[in-house]
Amino acid sequence: MVESTPPTFVVWFTGISGAGKSTIASGVEQRLRAHGLSIHNLDGDSLRTGLNSDLGFSDDDRTENVRRIGEVARLFNIAGVSVLVAAISPFRAGRDQVRALIGPGRFVEVHVDTPLEVAESRDTKGLYRKARSGQLANFTGIDSPYEAPLNPEVRIDSTHSTSDDEADEVVRTLMMMGLLGPDD
Ligand code: ADX
Repeated sequence: MVESTPPTFVVWFTGISGAGKSTIASGVEQRLRAHGLSIHNLDGDSLRTGLNSDLGFSDDDRTENVRRIGEVARLFNIAGVSVLVAAISPFRAGRDQVRALIGPGRFVEVHVDTPLEVAESRDTKGLYRKARSGQLANFTGIDSPYEAPLNPEVRIDSTHSTSDDEADEVVRTLMMMGLLGPDD
């Protein structure tokens, strides 16, 4: 009997700045590599230094940012590489468009649902302080909206759990969805 290989997929981490998206994505990346999967990590912050360096933080620019990341993720999938994306991606409609583009059962939305007070108290990049003092406009959660997913495949509040446990939870979800075989 010929074993069918699981399809390529996109794990899309969405949430406010400082929620912990990139940290959890790195943990998932390590685990999937250990399973022997071909994986590429697309990080919103890094893409904004190259592919998306012409975009700012208006609603339109964020929509275009997310559209481009989705298109790139799709190309990687076609080439046989699964993708992890960490981007605020604040608008539900934009994320749902990417979900439709990637295809049924292959888009795994992970809402890193860290409360604003916690993300703001971490303020690893000092951006919340700038936003509160009026030096940075259109900051997500302060004066720019964040629309939480209604039915994400995974919801994580990183206030009390460790990033290792959270990465494990994402990997378990991939197994349950048939995207990662037990022997991969
Ligand atoms: S998105 O909203 O278009 O998806 P993306 O994830 O690419 O955003 O970039 C967010 C990163 O840009 C943040 O982690 C932060 O480092 C930086 N940043 C700079 N200005 C802003 C802003 N006004 N709002 C949110 N993040 C900002």
